[in-house]
Formats: sequence, structure tokens, C-alpha cells
Amino acid sequence: MEVKTSLLDNMIGVGDMVLLEPLNEDSFIMNLRNRFDHNEIYTYIGSVVISMNPYRSLPIYTPQKVEEYRNRNFYELSPHIYALADEAYRSLRDQDKDQCILITGESGAGKTEASKLVMSYVAAVCGKGQEVNKVKEQLLQSNPVLEAFGNAKTMRNDNSSRFGKYMDIEFDFKGDPLGGVISNYLLEKSRVCKQPRGERNFHIFYQLLSGASDDTLMKLKLDRDFSKYNYLSLDSANVNGLDDAASFRTVRNAMQIVGFMEAEVQSVLELVAAVLKLGNIEFKPESRVNGFDESRVKDKNDLKEMCELLGIEQSVLERAFSYRTVEAKMEKMSTTLNVAQAYYARDALAKNLYSRLFSWLVTRINESIKAQAKTRHKVMGVLDIYGFEIFEVRDNSFEQFIINYCNEKLQQIFIELTLREEQEEYIREDIEWTNIEYFNNAVICDLIENNQNGILAMLDEECLRPGTVTDDTFLDKLNTICAEHQHFESRLNKNSKFLTDHSLPHSCFRIQHYAGKVLYRVEGFVDKNNDLLYRDLSQAMYKATHSLMRQLFPEGNPAKVNLKRPPTAGFQFKASVGVLMKNLQTKNPNYIRCIKPNDKKVAHIFTDSLVCHQVRYLGLVENVRVRRAGYAFRQPYESCLERYKMLCKKTWPHWRGPARDGVEVLLTDCSVPTEEFAYGRSKIFIRNPRTLFTLEERRRACLEDLATLIQKIYRGWKSRTHFLLLKKSQVVVAAWYRRYAQQNKYQKIKSATLVMQSFIRGWKARNILRQLKYEKRCKEAVTTIAAYWHGTQARMELRRLKTEARNKRAVSVIWAYWQGTKVRREYRKFFRANAGKKIYDFTIQRIMQKYFLGLKTTTMSPMDNSWPAKPYGFLEGAHTQLRRIFHLWRCKKYRGQFTEEKKAVYEEKLEASEIFKDKKALYPSSVSQPFKGDYLEIQKNPKYQKLNSAMEEKVLLADLVNKINRANGKGSPRLFLLTKSNFVLADQKTGQVKASVPLPDLASVSVSTQSDGFFALKLKEGSASASKGDFLLSSEHLIEIITKLHRIGTTAADRDQINIDISDEFLVQFKQDKVCVKFIQGGPKNGNSAACKRKNNRLLEVSVPSP
Ligand SMILES: Nc1ncnc2c1ncn2[C@@H]1O[C@H](COP(=O)(O)OP(=O)(O)O)[C@@H](O)[C@H]1O
Ligand SMILES: [Mg+2]
Repeated sequence: MEVKTSLLDNMIGVGDMVLLEPLNEDSFIMNLRNRFDHNEIYTYIGSVVISMNPYRSLPIYTPQKVEEYRNRNFYELSPHIYALADEAYRSLRDQDKDQCILITGESGAGKTEASKLVMSYVAAVCGKGQEVNKVKEQLLQSNPVLEAFGNAKTMRNDNSSRFGKYMDIEFDFKGDPLGGVISNYLLEKSRVCKQPRGERNFHIFYQLLSGASDDTLMKLKLDRDFSKYNYLSLDSANVNGLDDAASFRTVRNAMQIVGFMEAEVQSVLELVAAVLKLGNIEFKPESRVNGFDESRVKDKNDLKEMCELLGIEQSVLERAFSYRTVEAKMEKMSTTLNVAQAYYARDALAKNLYSRLFSWLVTRINESIKAQAKTRHKVMGVLDIYGFEIFEVRDNSFEQFIINYCNEKLQQIFIELTLREEQEEYIREDIEWTNIEYFNNAVICDLIENNQNGILAMLDEECLRPGTVTDDTFLDKLNTICAEHQHFESRLNKNSKFLTDHSLPHSCFRIQHYAGKVLYRVEGFVDKNNDLLYRDLSQAMYKATHSLMRQLFPEGNPAKVNLKRPPTAGFQFKASVGVLMKNLQTKNPNYIRCIKPNDKKVAHIFTDSLVCHQVRYLGLVENVRVRRAGYAFRQPYESCLERYKMLCKKTWPHWRGPARDGVEVLLTDCSVPTEEFAYGRSKIFIRNPRTLFTLEERRRACLEDLATLIQKIYRGWKSRTHFLLLKKSQVVVAAWYRRYAQQNKYQKIKSATLVMQSFIRGWKARNILRQLKYEKRCKEAVTTIAAYWHGTQARMELRRLKTEARNKRAVSVIWAYWQGTKVRREYRKFFRANAGKKIYDFTIQRIMQKYFLGLKTTTMSPMDNSWPAKPYGFLEGAHTQLRRIFHLWRCKKYRGQFTEEKKAVYEEKLEASEIFKDKKALYPSSVSQPFKGDYLEIQKNPKYQKLNSAMEEKVLLADLVNKINRANGKGSPRLFLLTKSNFVLADQKTGQVKASVPLPDLASVSVSTQSDGFFALKLKEGSASASKGDFLLSSEHLIEIITKLHRIGTTAADRDQINIDISDEFLVQFKQDKVCVKFIQGGPKNGNSAACKRKNNRLLEVSVPSP
């Protein structure tokens, strides 16, 4: 929630003078002083801001402050210039009302600073962006340029503006700045030629001389030494805290930012230099024949240099300082100038040159900063103009008169606008308008500006009048015409009441301004109003080649010679003030009233008399009165209700319903007298500040109670929350602790249990172990005892047996010995001659006997190769012979058992061995296979019945063979039958005879050396069967087939032996062709059997797996 603050919070004194009770000058000043002492330099009178110059930098212009005041209501925060700037800017932006900010006050009161603060605030809060920032920068940078040329050090202010300034800042509909227009008023040009004691000429002269480079100074024909120039007063040429050289750089920089060309800057500086040179031109009298003195330029060097700077012909200017041309009735007359007149002319030229340069600068700046867009602008004007000037010690002169006239006009506008606004608000709020009594200064304005008999009109009349015109004639005129005016006082008045007033000198008149009486000395009024520059001079200036001169002195154009006098200073000023007033009247005014707390330009000092003087002439008390004339204080219902609702039970803490009703209830409840307030449409109006303060007082008391209540509730809430938190925490802590304790306990029990368990288990295990160990020991003991016992038994038995055996042996030995002894004893007598031979024979006989008995163990199988080892070396020969004989006998015996068939079988086997042994690798595998002959059981198998009957002879062999096809090397199964006289090949399935070859036609058989079953049956050439070609066959029973074929050949007496050719390469005659069959080992593996492949037409290759 946003905190609603108010101006009324933490007030030091009263922040708004409208609330001052009682209201008088003393209390007003007391309040200002009180606030000033507490660094509160700003105080309001309604919406007017009073600003006291603190003469030191206060930390109240920071960016944070800008933020604080941004978009806040005027009365929400303590008084500040930012509040006014914000209010003005927001109503400009949001309500589309053009604004003007009128800053008034004495010299040194802080007007210029205030105007800069306003501008910087607006710059800070308005829109941003590259273009906008450039505009802002140009607007802000116009200040240093104008200050350099228009400000000077005075007794009252080290940086006093010597011109009035009004600046219109233009904004677009969004509130972004577009540009600006500056108007300047009445530059104090007399300062160019002469400065009062302790004051300086305009800053730019000093800045140029201190800050410009040597080169620039040479070009400008200047010398750095201030003392070389008559126009620069020497005392206080250097001001504490002012760095002219640095300022010069700032000014050059600012000129660049504002948009001055380098050449323009140069021209401006040349004019400044020319003014300095002009001041150095001196004159001497030269006597003429007619007795008059004629002035002559004393030292022409400065004149020469000045003419060079401006591009003027030296002689022309020189002449202009000695003569002047007077034109009357189309006649030109040349009169000489005396020295005094020459000096007058010189100074007039210098003043005009400088003031016109200043105006040119303003125009030039305006050209730069003027808004580009042609759309409608919103405007905020800032008026930084001199306040009332009343010199008590010094004479008030024409300048003060003009200035005070301007202030009178401003007061007029203030009254008009303030009252108008007040009246408008009353109407808006539907409050009855009570006539406000105030002093209207229109009558004073009329005294000065009335076109017929106003002071300014009379001065002009006097100036234009032919004949001798002096200040005194002017005063006389005033005395006659204004005599009756109640605000005009003069000693020589027809109105005799001032005749004896000694405070009013004869050469003076006094005006009762709204802010007080001011005494003016008439001396110089006519001259200053005339502001005369001899035409010869302005024409000389016009002729100059310098780029600016024609613009500055347009009246010097001979083509435009105009006999009419130029408008007087008073007339010009009145006109420009008129324009300004018109301008201001269209805008919503915002006032800043600056007050200077002391004369010493120091901080912390508050001089009552000085402040009182200013308060008086600024008419501030008057201001408060006007403001308070109706109702002193007003506030929207909402904020009033918000602020005071705690004073009434019905509105506190919340009022439901319209705020106005709430306020009504509230005020009735607080028993505020009804005449003290009025209800507007949106605001409550309070007549007397006292009422407001009573409300404030009650509010403060109530706030204390509320604070206590809030504290109480807050403390209660805090303690309760704290307690609840503690309680909650306690539960959590307790739960955690209990859990922890139980966990610990459980862990302890668990580990104790484990310990106990392990102890018990250990104990049990040890018991069992002990038991088992005991049992084992018992078992071992039993075994051991048994073993020992058996051992003992066995040993005893053994011992017994041993003893027995020994005994037996001993008996036999003894018996043998005894026998021997006996025999020897008996036969000793016989043995003597042939006992040795007999013993030998006997021994040999015994050995042979034993040997032959040992041979009985051998078996009768001819396959048995075993034979007992020879027992003695001497039996060697007999032993082998016996073995051979025995084997042969054994074989004969075996053979003797054979039948005729078996014999034939063995013969066949023998024959096979003779043919194939060590010649064909297939052979060894066939040894163990008996030759069955008929593998097909051709006689018994009904399938072959037909075939069998076709055979004339006994079938010796019937088998299934593969007939190798010459074309692809593949085999096709055939039945192969062999009889004593022929062999037959028949179809396997049908038994159809395919070929029957008589054996005599068979020439030879070819087989390989390897373990394959291929064989070729080659037929005799020329035989009957040969036409069919040879047969290449393969059979599992190759050995048997070939053996049988061979055997038939051997047994048949009528035939040749069949040739058996064993070779790995042989030729086979297929019908016409001879094909070579070649056997290779380890060809591609095709199972375990050999595979035949046709290589080409003439070659069949049989690969035989490696064994
Ligand atoms: N708000 C302020 N804070 C600090 N110093 C200030 C303030 N206003 C004015 N001054 C001081 O007072 C001097 C004179 O102020 P200035 O605005 O030039 O007066 P004026 O324009 O009214 O003659 C400034 O140079 C500055 O030192
Ligand atoms: Mg100023």
C-alpha cells in the first residue's frame, strides 16, 4: 500500500504560510527563520514557493529527490521547488495547460539558480531519447552562454544577471521538449563603460582575457593584462571561487553545443575585443578658430586596431568622434564635438555595440533552439526577472524605475491570476463567493504607463520636445500632471502636503509602490530614456566589413535614413513588458519568490531586517491575506477523510460510502462549528487555519493511541506467532527426539540381543564341539585301542607264526642237516669217486624237469606269441628251436581242423595278401573282413530270382557296384555277378542284365595304390566284348572281387593269368576314346569316400581322402 504522506507531516514551523496563526509580519518572519535554521529553505503560500537562498549547497537536489517528488501531489511532501516544477510539468503534460514559472526576488536571492533547478528537474523527468536529449542539452547549455555575456559580479551577487530573461520551453503532446524561445529584457548596458566600486564588468571580458589562447589573443589584438583596459575596473577583477579561464572553456563548449559556428564565435569575440579597444580611445581638445574646443583622438593606435577588428575605415570613425551631422528640415549641418561629447559618443557606441551584440546572441540562440515541428506546442515559460530594487543609500535611478514598473505589472498579474483562479475554484466547487478585500495595484501601474499622463509617456514627451530638455523640466512636468495621484509624492508638488517633507529631496519624486515607497532621483532619466547614438557613428558602423555589424546597426543604412527618432528606452521596455504580460496572462502561473537571508553572501545567517524588507516589498504577507481571504485551507474529500478518519468511530477504520458523507460525519462528530467550513463539490474548504490545527492536534493524539494499539496488536501477534512457532518447533523437536531416543534404545537392545545371541550360540556351539570332540576322541581311542589291540594280536600271532615257522624250518633244517649229516655219514664212504658227476646230472635233470614243466603253460592258438623266458643261458639254442617246433606243430594242428570251404577262404585271403600287401593302401582294412562272396544272397532273395536263373554257373560273387559314367564321373549302381566263366553287370532294380563278359575277354584289371575302391576292367582288344569298352567300377569289396577274379584265372587252365596293374594313373578305353584316370591324394573332401570328377574329355580325376 502506498503510504500517504502530507505536507502537514513533520512540519517545522508551518510549511504553508496560509496556516500561520496569528498572521502578521513578525510571525511570518519568525516562521521563515525557524525553517531556515532547520535547513528548510522552501515554504509555501498556497501554491507559491518562497525560496530562501542558503548560500551553500544542500543535499536536496539529488536524483533521488527528483524521483521522490516525481508524480506526487503538491501537498504530499515537504515544500520544495521540485514540487512546483512537477506540478507545473504535469498539468502542462496531462491537462494541456500552458504554464509559466515566475521567479522574482532581489539580486542574489537565487532566482537564476531557481530557474536552473526548474529546468533541470523538467529535463530529468520529461521524455528521453537521442533527439530529446539533444534538445534538452541545447536548452540547458544556452544558460552558460547568456550568463557569460549578461552576468557580472555585483556587490550583492558574484554572478548577478544583468538582464531579465524569459524563456519559453516548448513540448509536444507527450511532454517531450521540442525547443525553446528566449526573450531578454533591458540589459544593464551602462556596466560596459563603468562599474560601481567592488563590482565587475560582464564576465566575458575577464573570461576572454584569462582563458583564450595566446594565439587567439594575438588575433584579437588583445593583451592578457586587465589593467590595460579602461573599461575593466581593477578592484575585484578576480573573484573568489570564480575561475574565468575554466568558465571561458565552458562557454566555448556551450556555444558549440548550442550550435554556433566557429566563425560566428570568432566574430562575437572580435566585437568583445572591439569594445575593450573602444574604451581605450581617448580624446584631447583642439582649439578652433571659432573659440570652441574640438575633440581629437589622442593615441590613434587603439583606434587603428579597433578599426582593423571591425573592418572600418579609420578616418570615418575618427571623423565621427569629432563631428556630428544634424539634420533638420532636409538640411544637413555638421557640428563639432567637444571632448565631453566625444567621450559620451564613445561610451554610447560601446554600450550599444555590446547590448546589440547581446541581443544578437539571444536571437542566434533562439535560431538554434527553436522547435522544428510546426505542430501545436505546449509551452512552459520561465521568467527570471529582477525583483523590486530599492536602494536606501544609493540613488534609485531610471533603471530601478523601469524594474519596479515591471514588478508592479507582475504583481498585477499575480493578483489577477490568483484571484481569478481562486474565484474559478469556488465556482467549480460550488462555494458561495465571498468578496475578497485586497489592495489592487492597478492604479500604480496606471500612474506609470498611462498613455496620456503616465510617467513614461511624459518622459517620452519631454525627450521628444524641441527646445532645451533637462531632467528638471521633466520633474516639473511630473509635478504638474501627477500632483493629484495618491501614489505620487514630490516636494514641489502642487499638493502642498509634502512641502515640508525633508526626506523628499527637491530633485526627486517618490512613488508608493505596492511593496513600499521608493524615492527616485530624476538625474539621467532623459538621457537614459533617449539612449542616443549619433547617426554618424551608426553609419560608420554600418559601413564596417565585419560580418555582424550590418545586422547590429541597421539604422546606419544610408538608404533608410529616417528622420524619426528611434523609440525611447522607456517606450521599448513598456512595449516588451506589455507583450510579456499578454503572454503570461494566457498561461497558468506558478510563483517562486526568492529571498536573500543576508547581505554577506554567507550561509547560516538570517538577517531579520533584510528579510523583513524583502517580505514587505515582495508583498508576501499581502499574498497570504489574498490567499486566505476566503477559505484558508482546502483539501479533496478523499485525502481529508484519509487523514482524519481516525478521529471518529464511524469513519474508522473504514468508511463505506462517498468520501464527502464521510467527511461530513467526521466533522459533525468532531463538533467543528459549521461556519468554519464549507462543502465544495470535491473539496472541503476550511476557513480558519486554527480549525485545521485543532484537527491536526487531535489526529496526532489519536495517532499516538493508534500507534499504541498497533504496537499492542503487533506485539500480541508477534508473541503469539512466536509462541505458535515455538510450540510447533517443540512438537517437531520432541517427535524427532523421541524417534531418536527410541531408535537409540532399539539399537541398544538390538546389539545386546545380538551379543547375547552370539554368546548363546557360541556357548551352544562350543558345547556341541566339545561333545563332538569327545565323541571323536572316543572313536579315535577305540580305533587306536582296537588297532593297538589288533596290532598286539597280530604281532603276537606273527611272532607265534614266525616262531612256528622258525621252529618248523629249524626242524626241517635241523632234520635236513641231520639227514644230510646222516646221509653224508652213511654215504661218505661211497661218494668219494663219482658223487660229483651224479650230483651234477641229478641237478641238471632236476633243472630240465622244472623247465619242461614250466612250458606246459603255453596255449595252442597259432596267434599266441607268448613263450616262457629261458631260465638258464645254456638252454638258449634248445629254447628257440623248441619254440619254432612247437609253433609249427601248433599251426599244423590248427590247420588240421579246417573244412574244405574254410581252407578255400584262407587261400583266397592268402592270395589277396600276395596281390595287394604293401601295394594298395586299401588292403590292411580288408584283412579282418571275411570274404562272403554273395552279398546279395542272390539265391534266396526273390527279387533276383530271374537273374539267378539266367546264370548258368554258380555265382561266386554277387555285389552292388557303381559303374562310373565317363561323362560326369558319377557312379550308377549295378549288380555285379561273377561266375567261373564270366562276369555280369545287371540293373539294380530290375535285375536286367546289362552286360555279360566272358572272363577270357578280360585283359587286365587296373587299381590305384590308394585306399579307394575304383577298378577298371579292361577288355582284350578285338574280343567280342571289347566293343562295349572297358568298365570303370567302384566297390566296397574291391580286394575280394579282384582276388576272386585273379583266383579264377589261376585255377582255370585254359586261360591266361589276369593281369593286375596297380598304378595311380591308367588308361581306360571308353568305346572309342581312351580316358586317363588319375588318382590324387587329399583332394577336396567329400565325406570319407573317394570322389571321381571329370576334368576334361580325356581325364577323370579321383580324389582320395588322406588316410
Ligand atoms: N538553492 C540554492 N542552493 C545553494 N546556493 C544557492 C541557491 N540559490 C542561490 N544560491 C547561491 O546564491 C548565489 C546567487 O544566486 P542567483 O540565482 O544568481 O541570484 P539572482 O539570480 O537572484 O540574482 C548563487 O551564485 C549561489 O551561490
Ligand atoms: Mg540572476
